[in-house]
Amino acid sequence: MLRLIHHLLPLLLILLFTAAQQVHSWRPWPNAVNNNSRSSTADFRFGPSKKFEGSSEFVDLKYHMGPVMTTNITVHIIWYGKWQPSQKRIIREFINSISADSVKPPSVSGWWKTVQLYTDQTGSNISRTVKIGSEKNDRFYSHGKSLTRLSVQSVIKSFITARTKPLPVTPKNGIYLLLTSPDVYVQDFCQQVCGFHYFTFPSIVGYTLPYAWVGNSAKLCPGICAYPFAVPTYIPGLKPVKAPNGDVGVEGMISVIAHEIAELVTNPLVNAWYAGPDPIAPVEIADLCEGIYGTGGGGSYTGQMLEGRDGATFNVNGIRRQFLIQWVWNHVVNYCTGPNALDQ
Ligand SMILES: *[C@@H]1O[C@H](CO)[C@@H](O)[C@H](O)[C@H]1NC(C)=O
Ligand SMILES: *[C@@H]1O[C@H](CO)[C@@H](O)[C@H](O)[C@H]1NC(C)=O
Ligand SMILES: *[C@@H]1O[C@H](CO)[C@@H](O)[C@H](O)[C@H]1NC(C)=O
Repeated sequence: MLRLIHHLLPLLLILLFTAAQQVHSWRPWPNAVNNNSRSSTADFRFGPSKKFEGSSEFVDLKYHMGPVMTTNITVHIIWYGKWQPSQKRIIREFINSISADSVKPPSVSGWWKTVQLYTDQTGSNISRTVKIGSEKNDRFYSHGKSLTRLSVQSVIKSFITARTKPLPVTPKNGIYLLLTSPDVYVQDFCQQVCGFHYFTFPSIVGYTLPYAWVGNSAKLCPGICAYPFAVPTYIPGLKPVKAPNGDVGVEGMISVIAHEIAELVTNPLVNAWYAGPDPIAPVEIADLCEGIYGTGGGGSYTGQMLEGRDGATFNVNGIRRQFLIQWVWNHVVNYCTGPNALDQ
């Protein structure tokens, strides 16, 4: 009996672990697919039939008493490398859509309503208002074409300390968003991350400022970071969907920008809303729903998305455009929610 339990225990733990992993999030990471073929093939067999949407008893999202962003949020953008005006327009219009209440549902502002459900110790909700603040261009790659987590902070520093027109220092309600062009590599890009958020260190930047980086993956790994508008070559039979604004790299970024902003405002100093025991690797409100874009989503299935006039795939309306963005965790009902849910 004892020996049997001994033999079964590791197996049970592996099963529990992979189940929890599948529930949490999905992106076709190269190592996960190649090295962990058991869980990833099982994952593909889930199929579209199962109502899933991340609902799980394993999720222990908790509030850890730190601040969240409750006053009008301002996003300062740093365009690093070469950006076309048409690409900037798509990204600006997405950010401006977050607070655009008059857009017809399902809308980006409807998506933000799940984020607004999060509060701080005083019971104040995340701000309804998100606006673009200042924008800066770094056309000549001031810190090179390969950045690290720390050199990203140096880029931000150079703009807030610039002699002419520095970026404003707004630690309480500012988001510093560094966007890199397709020819820029950032530490762990394509292998572990498509973007990240953190806060700057006073020793490097002079202030504690919440920031996020998101990379354009068009050249380096569209099949991973712009999935499902592109698919990895090592997964046979998977077909990409059509991007609503005709720019695979930028539209892959839109969902990652949505992901990072949702997490940043609910966990700006990494001491507010996250799951798991470890603040070094916090599982945050968007991590829990990565890869889920609609009803039934979970595992490698995106869930039910919408089809535009021209056959493009989207799930939310914004100002003048449509976008495809992942859902986020709703701590009131304990599953991922989004404005295009079929059962509302
Ligand atoms: C498995 O992952 C490692 C890194 O963790 C990578 O170097 C290796 O190429 C992967 N194996 C396969 C078969 O792709
Ligand atoms: C916040 O934004 C709203 C909507 O744009 C505006 O009416 C309000 O005056 C702003 N509040 C502050 C403190 O800036
Ligand atoms: C604020 O958060 C509470 C708790 O999640 C929620 O019940 C309420 O609806 C939220 N208010 C807004 C405006 O989202």
